[in-house]
Amino acid sequence: MVTSSKDGSFLEHITIQDSFPIGVEQLEAAAKHALPEEVFSHIRSGAGGEETLRKNRAEFKKYSIIPRFLRNVSEVDTSICILGNEYAYPFMVAPIGHLKMVHEEPDFAIANAAASINIPYIQSTVTSRSMEEISKAVPHGPKWFQLYWSKNDAISYSMAKRAENAGYEAIVVTVDTTILGWREDDMRHQYSPLKKGYGKANYVQDPVFQESLKKDQDEIASIIENLHHPHLHWNNIAELRQRTKLPIFLKGILHPEDAKQAIKAGISGIVVSNHGGRQMDGTISSLEALPAIRKAVGSDFPLLFDSGIRRGADVIKALALGADAILLGRPYAYALALQGETGVQRIFANLAQDISVSMALSGARTVKEVKQLTLKVADI
Ligand SMILES: Cc1cc2nc3c(=O)[nH]c(=O)nc-3n(C[C@H](O)[C@H](O)[C@H](O)COP(=O)(O)O)c2cc1C
Repeated sequence: MVTSSKDGSFLEHITIQDSFPIGVEQLEAAAKHALPEEVFSHIRSGAGGEETLRKNRAEFKKYSIIPRFLRNVSEVDTSICILGNEYAYPFMVAPIGHLKMVHEEPDFAIANAAASINIPYIQSTVTSRSMEEISKAVPHGPKWFQLYWSKNDAISYSMAKRAENAGYEAIVVTVDTTILGWREDDMRHQYSPLKKGYGKANYVQDPVFQESLKKDQDEIASIIENLHHPHLHWNNIAELRQRTKLPIFLKGILHPEDAKQAIKAGISGIVVSNHGGRQMDGTISSLEALPAIRKAVGSDFPLLFDSGIRRGADVIKALALGADAILLGRPYAYALALQGETGVQRIFANLAQDISVSMALSGARTVKEVKQLTLKVADI
């Protein structure tokens, strides 16, 4: 997307809009006020003592952008190209499950908002609408499918096939959630959106899952059983590689050696992520992991990033440290809770504008130039 200061589009961000909170801190506070405590806590919280959750944000403060000037930034091109597909901005929609806990029809709302600005909607495995329903309701706009492996491998292969048939562009296998993290807030509140059935559509509409159900077996109990898949191994990824034509991304990679192994396994891209601090507490922050992984995979390998992105300046830093694009997570869940599809459109539009402004003010006319910016690392 080319935005230009000549036509005034850079100034859109100062137009007085409505009651939608501009800063993510206010957005989070408003969502906290609007949502039941256990629902807000489920979204906000991290695993364990939340060390990783805090580190994800703190790490951004270690880096400072050294901007370049006098470069004529009257036109800024925010578009990116990943595996031959062009998208308008260097951000995508992170897969977030169970969003029916905050909205009646979350998946159509988010997919629509993403399609309206041509950024990929990465659908979670645990949504309240299936991939077939989403691709029918929102046929336009790029869609990727995030796959949680199943204990029964055949269900995973079946879901991958369905994503291919439903016109999805890529499969994102999340590798850091083989079992659920130690989530103290959810335990305190005895809260499980999964048990409420908010994430069952992709399973109940899967023929292999249906076939695997034993007589009178409860669907949700079987989904929970399948979601635990500690046996996941590179062999499964190799098998999936054989079975689908779609590019495969691995989400949750933090170690450079795993990144190298992913390339050997024929993987098309990686999402450097620690799941927003919701899985293993005490891990390295995502941003800390990023430079070493970029070094390990080389300059051309598609690298996405999430965990801690809140503003345009964060996006600039992640790109300058080696990401090709970032995934926006919690903020859009809060926006959805507050104002439904309009809220999600608003947060996407705000981030898009913030990225354009931040690019211009850093002296980068293209995403490629963002990657060449110099960052100063604080000696903390
Ligand atoms: C409520 C919630 C549900 C999530 N569900 C999924 C999911 O279904 N699949 C997945 O791969 N990641 C899931 N994630 C992780 C996000 O995709 C992303 O990695 C994380 O939100 C990034 O951290 P941030 O939101 O702090 O930026 C979830 C995150 C949250 C907050």
